[in-house]
Amino acid sequence: METTQALVAHPDHAVLWHHERLYLLDQRWLPETETFIACETLEATAQAITDMVVRGAPAIGVAAAYGVVLAARARFQQAGRQWREPIEADLQRLAQARPTAVNLFWAIERMRAFIASLDHIDPVPALLAEAQRIHCEDVAANQRIGALGAALIEAPTTILTHCNAGALATGGYGTALGVVRSAYAEGKITRVYADETRPWMQGSRLTAWELMRSGIPVTVQADNAAASLMAGGELGWVIVGSDRIAANGDVCNKIGTLGLAILARHYGVKFMVAAPTSTIDLSVASGADIPIEERAAEEVLACGGKRLGPEQATARNPVFDVTPASLVDAIVTECGVIQQPDAAKVRQLMAGDNNT
Ligand code: MRU
Repeated sequence: METTQALVAHPDHAVLWHHERLYLLDQRWLPETETFIACETLEATAQAITDMVVRGAPAIGVAAAYGVVLAARARFQQAGRQWREPIEADLQRLAQARPTAVNLFWAIERMRAFIASLDHIDPVPALLAEAQRIHCEDVAANQRIGALGAALIEAPTTILTHCNAGALATGGYGTALGVVRSAYAEGKITRVYADETRPWMQGSRLTAWELMRSGIPVTVQADNAAASLMAGGELGWVIVGSDRIAANGDVCNKIGTLGLAILARHYGVKFMVAAPTSTIDLSVASGADIPIEERAAEEVLACGGKRLGPEQATARNPVFDVTPASLVDAIVTECGVIQQPDAAKVRQLMAGDNNT
């Protein structure tokens, strides 16, 4: 993988198709270093997803779609008209990149279905157009989510968010931060509190960087400061994104989200989940069926490259948790809002039957 600083880093362009390559803003080193990684192969794309160069459920899906374009180009060069058969192994490789965010599998399935519909000799232009459609549709979905979510918020208020569910985590604009952007533009938000989000620090490194670039007032806090913030009585909403929403409305998101939802219910703070319908997985009945990624213990035992825990120490590192639907006040999607989600309401929304 080649790196470049020639492209200008902007939260809305963390995933870029440029000069027949996929460029990913390397989120491991933000905000200190604004560098892009160039991916020329599906293998490089899959590895970048595993290594968290690109992260956040919808952004992973968009990057994966471009990865399929890279695979098709290589297979067409090697096998000509026979490119279709070997690409299946590439799709399966891509699906190994990370286990929890369903947008990865959603994007692979969409590209697989599109491949089946192709009769072109050279598949690359058509597949690139499909990947770009996935990318553009995600941005449009986030803008709609932003408007619908902002309509639920009463001014003036403050927001707490966890991890990064912003432009960096999506095709652009953001889900939770899309709601923040829209509500801020309407003058409804005075300040956003960003949990730092141990161990990867997506809140302090990415959310703070992204909101500051957009001129939205943001204050970073340690994850364990959330209870005292809510006890203070001035927080209006907790707003988060999601990596996978089960058929019954249970929400899987960054580790620590469940604790926030429990606290929010205790202190009477509203809890909103902002996510596109590509994050809803009707094939899993409840959150208990969602595979939770476990990453290396080293990520917990070290910080900023410096080992903090004793050498022989062990550590747990589940990187997502599941918030039961009963603790969620609203799931906001581009197709409408589900208040007090349950299985029937999720089914209704996905059937296109939502009247919001
Ligand atoms: O491990 P990450 O950084 O990929 O986790 C990201 C999150 O948990 C986000 O909140 C989620 O993907 C929603 S992004 C719009």
